[in-house]
Amino acid sequence: MPSAVRRPFASTVFSLLVLPLVLAGTALADNAGLTPVEARSPNAQGINDAYGWVSIFTGAIFLLVQGSLLLFIVRYRRRRRARDEDGAQVHGNTNLELAWTIAPVLILVAIGGFVFWKLPQIQDVPSANAAGGRTDVTVEGYRYYWNFEYPNGVIAVDRLRAPVGGNVRLEISAPDFEVIHSWWIPALGGKFDAIPGVVNESWFRADAPGIYRGQCAEFCGIQHAAMLAEVEALPREEFDAWLEEEDRAQRAGTSDLGAETYAGACAKCHGLAGEGDIGPALANNNLVQDAQAVETVVRNGGPKLMPPVGADWEQRQMDALTAYLKEGFGGE
Ligand code: CUA
Repeated sequence: MPSAVRRPFASTVFSLLVLPLVLAGTALADNAGLTPVEARSPNAQGINDAYGWVSIFTGAIFLLVQGSLLLFIVRYRRRRRARDEDGAQVHGNTNLELAWTIAPVLILVAIGGFVFWKLPQIQDVPSANAAGGRTDVTVEGYRYYWNFEYPNGVIAVDRLRAPVGGNVRLEISAPDFEVIHSWWIPALGGKFDAIPGVVNESWFRADAPGIYRGQCAEFCGIQHAAMLAEVEALPREEFDAWLEEEDRAQRAGTSDLGAETYAGACAKCHGLAGEGDIGPALANNNLVQDAQAVETVVRNGGPKLMPPVGADWEQRQMDALTAYLKEGFGGE
């Protein structure tokens, strides 16, 4: 029954050849995390270009190696040769040996040359008076949130606002009592570690309004997965108006900084409504009504696992949080 013998062979060929192609096709069609996200900043575009260029060579090598493998399996199979008989012996092939020495050298030169050509676009931070202007923001990684500070002193948590078309220079670091985190907004450029005592510099220039999401990319503890970050790119006038208004509101103590700080620094462990989770419930807890007690815990860390989440906060951020706790959880 020849058909019964053929069927396993056919299904093997199918799974070896067709299935991976189908999977690759569907994956590429909706990205599925295999290809880089669409670049929305020149430095991210440079990184994607380098990725595409390298992929051409690795893809070609993959097809060459796997294609040869399949070809040789079929072509040089044993056939009717006796099981203990050697196959044809081959000794040296100068042309082939030259080719597989020279080709990799040329490939590495092509890859290296392209990357070095792209590097300035990726790495060089535009000067302070470059077209589009420049906003310098400090980015500090804490367990488990991001604290941003603008040149005028405005503080923001987890959401970094930026002007569309404006250059934003980032000084990425972490306080000396922290662990290492990693700043990464894929659509806006590369990944930079936030290391205590080290300042890493990066930049971006968002080309369209929108919210660009990212995730702390260094395993930093129990709530690492909750350490999300986003950049909201706003039209220039809207950004300028926000920064000015936020500055006024934060000085007057009327901003949303307290709510933002609670959502970023507290809620990931204590629940957004203080219902408790990894950390104890805060709603109906008398301690949160006592600003001095809150500050002591926040600056020094809690009795159990709680890190000193705000050991080095400026007073305005501490006051914003304690005021929010009084209003948010009081009298309910
Ligand atoms: Cu911070 Cu992971």
